Amino acid sequence: MPENKLVVTDARTGKQYDLPITDGTIKAMDLRAIQTDPEDFGVLAHDPAFTNTTSCRSAITFIDGDKGILEYRGYSISDLAEKASFTEIQWLLLNGEMPDRAQHDRWTGDLASRAKLPAGLLETLRGVPRDGHPMSVLMTLVAALGAYNPECRNVRDAAVRGEHIRRILAQMPLLAGAAWRHRQGWPQLASKPELGYVGNFLRQVFAKDESDAKAVSPVLVRAMDVLLTLHADHEQNCSTNAMRGVGSSEADPYSSTGAAIAALSGPLHGGANEEVLRMLAEIGSTANIPSFLEKVRAKKAKLMGFGHRVYKSYDPRAKIIARTAKEVFEVTGKNPLLEVAVELERIALSEPYFIERNLYPNVDFYSGLIYQSMGFDPAYFTVLFAVGRAPGWLSQWDEMLRDSEQKIARPRQIYTGHRGRKLAR
Ligand code: MLT
Repeated sequence: MPENKLVVTDARTGKQYDLPITDGTIKAMDLRAIQTDPEDFGVLAHDPAFTNTTSCRSAITFIDGDKGILEYRGYSISDLAEKASFTEIQWLLLNGEMPDRAQHDRWTGDLASRAKLPAGLLETLRGVPRDGHPMSVLMTLVAALGAYNPECRNVRDAAVRGEHIRRILAQMPLLAGAAWRHRQGWPQLASKPELGYVGNFLRQVFAKDESDAKAVSPVLVRAMDVLLTLHADHEQNCSTNAMRGVGSSEADPYSSTGAAIAALSGPLHGGANEEVLRMLAEIGSTANIPSFLEKVRAKKAKLMGFGHRVYKSYDPRAKIIARTAKEVFEVTGKNPLLEVAVELERIALSEPYFIERNLYPNVDFYSGLIYQSMGFDPAYFTVLFAVGRAPGWLSQWDEMLRDSEQKIARPRQIYTGHRGRKLAR
């Protein structure tokens, strides 16, 4: 049986080195033994954006990009989206198993009893510009929430982590709702946890004031529940990497979540669904698709919502979202841009140029159409992504703090600047 190792020869010295292979990886630190002389620092691995580097061991989410597989704790995303609720998914990501009835009841009770924002936080919100980007507003509120929970800084205490994970998950939808109401210029509403996790959130979003008793369509509640589930985790994506990186310094969970929100706000990450809507609006009609795709081929336009760093076949979440879109449009009326989206997808899936480049619709392609049909403006879409991703960030953060292999994240660099300059004065 061949040994699980690389045997490398340093051509500079003729020396051979054994690099053990575990779980398909070599330890980057083992490269440091490869030296030209005892004073040599040793070889490092250079991997900008960590395109081929594992940062941790995790048991939370499994992705097979070639086969289009996404599993949370071993359950397929399609199974979970169809059969489970978002609050069950929160429990699953955090605890590794689906909750039984008693556990789920206790969990939703824990969230409901914490589903209230500190009054002072709404004062803070009043001082933030109404037309500020909603992700800047959400980031501000989450970080400020940490100031109301000073005991959250004891992150090595599992009970403290558990309490503040509950508070953040209970309050994220309320922060998102308050940010939406602030953006609309509407009065803030009292939380009604008795409406359920998603029902309470959508009442925050749709009710004009306390007297507005119009019930939110159960179809929209279920659709939002599915969308939050689809966004709940995605292994070591950019914002989760930020959560783990900031959390590795033992920063508190509100600050780490604020950092994750900051990462997610980028147009290359969570902001992608906002860019999809702008692209579809720019195309305007199916008649304009051929000329737009010509610009894409000529690299004069970007095809947003297609392709993915990890998925080389298709994003399994996109299929589920396309199905959810049709259910939502039956309630809200068809989004006029849906026709453009469906035709753009048909062409992209049939043309060699896009197939050769693995440009398949991803999770962002249809989610923006649904959110817009629900009445959200594009700048707010990523806030919805953040509400969904919060249990993923927090389960990864908790896993990182439990992992004895982890310590403060501190990469190396290749120095390209000056050396030893004297300041002649
Ligand atoms: C996500 O769900 O976080 C996005 O698909 C981005 C990623 O996984 O890199």
